[in-house]
Amino acid sequence: MTLLRTIAEVRDHVKSARDRGLTVGLVPTMGALHEGHGALMRRAREETGYVVVTIFVNPTQFDRTDDFQKYPRELDTDLAFCERLGLDAVFAPDAREMYPGDYQKMPLTSVDVAGLASRFEGEFRPGHFRGVAMVVAKLFNIVAANRAYFGEKDAQQLAVIQKMTADLNFPITIVPVPTVREPDGLAMSSRNQRLTPDQRRVAPLLYQALREAERLIRNGASSTAEIKRAASALMSRNPVFRIQYLDAVDPATFEPLVQIMGAVRVVAAVWLGEVRLIDNVLVDGA
Ligand code: PAF
Repeated sequence: MTLLRTIAEVRDHVKSARDRGLTVGLVPTMGALHEGHGALMRRAREETGYVVVTIFVNPTQFDRTDDFQKYPRELDTDLAFCERLGLDAVFAPDAREMYPGDYQKMPLTSVDVAGLASRFEGEFRPGHFRGVAMVVAKLFNIVAANRAYFGEKDAQQLAVIQKMTADLNFPITIVPVPTVREPDGLAMSSRNQRLTPDQRRVAPLLYQALREAERLIRNGASSTAEIKRAASALMSRNPVFRIQYLDAVDPATFEPLVQIMGAVRVVAAVWLGEVRLIDNVLVDGA
């Protein structure tokens, strides 16, 4: 496995893989790798001949400086993780390589996925999706992969990237990968490391509430208000939970649905102390 630090090195290595007739898979990450990332990497390994993982804690997608500063950075452990999965290359640039100019003084070109990017995560984390879309567009242009892998845990991010890819005609296939969960149902996330033992014990209630919403929908409930009430009540039993949003949305546009007909994604964000968790379930309407 090769550790690459510059854009020029990535381009050289990818070109030589393509010259050898290999398809290229891209797994963008911010590091602090866990089995959720492992699922993306395994899938990329199965489906493509040359797998590039990127590890970059992207400053432009954080709306809070403290969240950016506290984001776990563990490059050596992450490299060992990628090595174990038999990947080909890790691109771990520093911020100057990705953003050479002073973007405070000279604002960056912006990739704004209108509408979709301003709801839910976009509303509560202003500018977040602009930063995500920008860095993912850059990575698509730098790595020039055939396929890119993203987790369904960040369902709205996935929808933003799918829309951006279609609208801007990036010649890449986006592969959604199902959420990987701990045995108690908590979705794997790098932020879970920051939960206290008490918070960690109650955190699975988030997924239980989403499953309750799913159960109601499958049993024929169609009023979002009713579903929200039942799922919120489950979480509110525990005073540690502060619900930021809980809603039923159109899976492609993230428009909130008043009445449920057909496929729906139930999405939620909660605070447990200082840690913000998001999760979702897709109810296919079948
Ligand atoms: O999901 C993430 O880890 C990040 O948002 C991504 C896609 C790597 C962009 O920085």
